[in-house]
Amino acid sequence: MFDAADLRHLPKSELYEELPRQLDGLLHGERDLVANLANAAALIFQSLPDLNWAGFYLMKDGGLVLGPFQGRTACVRIAVGQGVCGTAAAEKRTQLVADVHAFPGHIACDSASASELVVPLIVDGEVKAVLDLDSPTPARFDADDAAGCERLVEVLLRHCVL
Ligand code: SME
Repeated sequence: MFDAADLRHLPKSELYEELPRQLDGLLHGERDLVANLANAAALIFQSLPDLNWAGFYLMKDGGLVLGPFQGRTACVRIAVGQGVCGTAAAEKRTQLVADVHAFPGHIACDSASASELVVPLIVDGEVKAVLDLDSPTPARFDADDAAGCERLVEVLLRHCVL
């Protein structure tokens, strides 16, 4: 059984070296999409400090549908272009939102959320899913978190058939 070491107190530079390695080890040898996304959500939620939600929305029939996650129950469907997740899907790039209340069209699933980071999973130029992280702390995420989570998404894309 894979037992992930607690990374929450590492400096960010080490955290984002170690976490992609742990994710790679966790997913090694498994191709089941739900299993891999579920374990990825759990690993990220338990490894990154100060999160209240971590998980995935999957592109289905032209819209985003809730996938595996950790945190409070969330809205099921998000249209492309709507909210932070839908904007990441429409623009095909990472969204770093310091204050979700100032983001036009932000979808409040958990009223505790104050800042958000969304990274799209892109295959052959098409958005297949997004990784969504929420924090109760304003401006919780910075460019290092964005780059680190983009590395996590690279690992996911190597292990998942989307
Ligand atoms: N806040 C997101 C919706 C998903 S929840 O945060 C889990 C958004 O605006 O897209």
